[in-house]
Formats: sequence, structure tokens, C-alpha cells
Amino acid sequence: MTREPIRHFLADDDLSSAEQREVLELAIRLKADRFAARPLAGPRSVAIIFDKPTLRTQVSFTAGISELGGYPMLVDGGLAKIGVRESAADVARVLGRQVAAIVWRTYEQSKLEEMAQHAGVPVVNALTDDYHPCQGLADLLTIAEHTGGLAPEGPALAGRSLAYVGDGANNMAHTYLLAGARAGMDVRIGAPEGYQPAAEIVTRAEAIAADSGGTVTLTTDPSDAVEQASAVVTDTWVSMGHEAQAVERETPFLPYQLNAALLGRAAPGAAVLHCLPAYRGKEITADVIDGPQSVVWDEAENRLHAQKAILTWLLR
Ligand code: CP
Repeated sequence: MTREPIRHFLADDDLSSAEQREVLELAIRLKADRFAARPLAGPRSVAIIFDKPTLRTQVSFTAGISELGGYPMLVDGGLAKIGVRESAADVARVLGRQVAAIVWRTYEQSKLEEMAQHAGVPVVNALTDDYHPCQGLADLLTIAEHTGGLAPEGPALAGRSLAYVGDGANNMAHTYLLAGARAGMDVRIGAPEGYQPAAEIVTRAEAIAADSGGTVTLTTDPSDAVEQASAVVTDTWVSMGHEAQAVERETPFLPYQLNAALLGRAAPGAAVLHCLPAYRGKEITADVIDGPQSVVWDEAENRLHAQKAILTWLLR
């Protein structure tokens, strides 16, 4: 008997458009019925490791794994020192003998891939320098909820547009390109020169969009990016790891601040998203993030439902 290969969720495009839709449909079911899936009953353990700060990701994976019947095993990244004390491959070999899945927030995507290659159990990206695919799933779920639901068939959010303004070179911009293209969306990135997305990821997103019916647009004009968009998104101008450049990174992004004037270019009632933590008065103004179009608290909650869905799907 041949066994199905182990699936991982390391980048947004690890899921095909049809698979992404399956996971989102499952997330909607699990949001309506919190304890409908118990793939970790036993309880089986899931290792959760953080090499970078977190609030939402730690809380939502811990609560979600518990709700799936499992034991969320928080492994202290500062003590484990993966890649320093021992290789990601050796850590994977140890963890894979004892846990049902591994969730890891770290710096280099290549280290996460090394973990996945040797773990023998599903590995989930809880954020790397390159992508934040769990946030991507939660955001698609949130956009669906606030723009008329999933498309009746085919790619999950066909016909919807997502405008991201700010640092186009960070992990969230990359995630929106890949996840949005898989969902059949029109994805627009408005970012200054020097902060545009990685060319390799743009090429991947364009190839995906050609298949899904979506589009990919890069611009340096934030108004063009936002024009009549269904969802408008921003993120901190100082991603984890760039703290030393906080001052020099402010000026280039000032025209990209998500404020009432910029939001006024979007479609009426467009949903405003931010993965949080947010810096009011920097990348987004208080009146926008705390205003009637903001869906950021639904978005934060949806981390729970989306991550329960991807874990259930990977462990199926
Ligand atoms: N959005 C997000 O990943 O939040 P944390 O960094 O707090 O986990």
C-alpha cells in the first residue's frame, strides 16, 4: 500500500486554489461549530516554537490545538536555539518521533524547509522572513466574511480585489501576492521604490493568477493601488528584524499611510485589515483602524479558525 506524502504549509502557494478553498470552507464550518473536528484527540501533541516575538500566533495556535483535542506543547525557541545548538534537521528528527505536527516561527525560510524535510510530520509556517501563510488564510476568511462570502465555485475569492499599501518587500506583501492570486483575486501592491516585492515571488504570483483568473499589479502610487478595492490592507513599516532601521524606514512610507483620504479611494464599505500589532499614526491612522470599516478584530479571531482548519486538513 502506498502512503500519501506528508503535506506541509510552508508558503501560501503550497495549497492549490481548490485546496485553499477546501481549507477556507473547513474554517467556516469550524467557526460555526468550534468542536466539530477532533483530529488531535488523544491528546496528541503539537510542538509550537517561536524564535521571534508573538501574541496572536501563540494564543491562536494554543487555543486551536486544544479545541482540536490536542496538547499544545510550547517549545522555548530561546532554549532550543535551533540552527545554533543543533541543526533544524536534527530537531525535526527528535520532534517528529513525539508530536503530530510542528508549528514554527523563525527567520529563514530555508530552515523551515529543512525542518519539513526531516520531520516526518506536517510542518506549519507560523511566520518567516518570507511569508506568513497562516495570516494569509485568516485574512482571506475575513475578506470573504465581509465581501459576500466565498465565490460560488472555483477560486475562493474570484471577483474581489485586495490592495496592500506600505512595505511591499515584507512577508505580508509576499503572502498577499501568493494567497490572493491563488484565491483568484486582483492583488495590488502599492509600495515605494526600493520596497517592492521580491521579483521571484511576483513571477510566481503572476503564474498563479494566470491560472486562477486573478491579476497582480505593482505600483508606486498608493491611490492607484487602492482605487475601488474591496479590501485595503497595511502592515507595520518596521517588520521584525528591521528594528534598527525604524527611523530611516519612516519617510519613504509616509505617502502610503492608510488614512481616511486613501481609504476614500476604495470601494464604498471596503474592508480594512491589519495583521497587528498596529502602530496608530504610522502605517494606519486611529480613525481608520478604530473606524466602521475596520475588521481587524474579526481578522485576529480568524487566526484561530483558519489554523484549526489547516491543521485538520494536513492531519486528515
Ligand atoms: N499577526 C501576528 O502574527 O501576530 P503576532 O506577531 O502577535 O503573533
